Amino acid sequence: MAIERTLSIIKPDAVAKNVIGKIYQRFEEAGLKVVAAKMVHLSATEAGEFYSAHKERGFFKDLVAFMTSGPVMVQALEGEGAVLKNRDLMGATDPKKAAPGTIRADFAESIDANAVHGSDAVEAAAVEIAFFFPGMNVYSR
Ligand code: PPS
Repeated sequence: MAIERTLSIIKPDAVAKNVIGKIYQRFEEAGLKVVAAKMVHLSATEAGEFYSAHKERGFFKDLVAFMTSGPVMVQALEGEGAVLKNRDLMGATDPKKAAPGTIRADFAESIDANAVHGSDAVEAAAVEIAFFFPGMNVYSR
């Protein structure tokens, strides 16, 4: 399987719950390496740009408000099939539907405060990593 990089965000709810370390442990135990990381408090402009694909959706305003409500921890993860592996670790968008043992099942409150974001495809990962870590190497091999 190809070595990939993916973008992960630990959202304001999980940062406020003080579970960054517990979530990092899941990445590490699954064989994903943190290859870049930073904590940021997004502005509405930045959050709106990051989620611009969803700007016509009814929840867009709530999503931007939530993502700017406190600091987030942003990381690029590297490993075999990193994009899908991270999505599997996260579980379904709605924590009520997330499989037991996934990050969202264990740490998320609701569909809007759902603990983590992860790129949904290799192409999206390249765009999202460039958004937060401009100039960083993004590849699959
Ligand atoms: S889709 O249809 O697959 O593109 O959408 P989805 O991946 O389910 O959701 C896209 C992001 O929007 C967030 N989301 C919401 N935020 C607030 N309120 C509601 N109702 C809501 N529904 C979805 C969802 O958490 C996704 O954020 P990320 O950061 O990508 O996980």
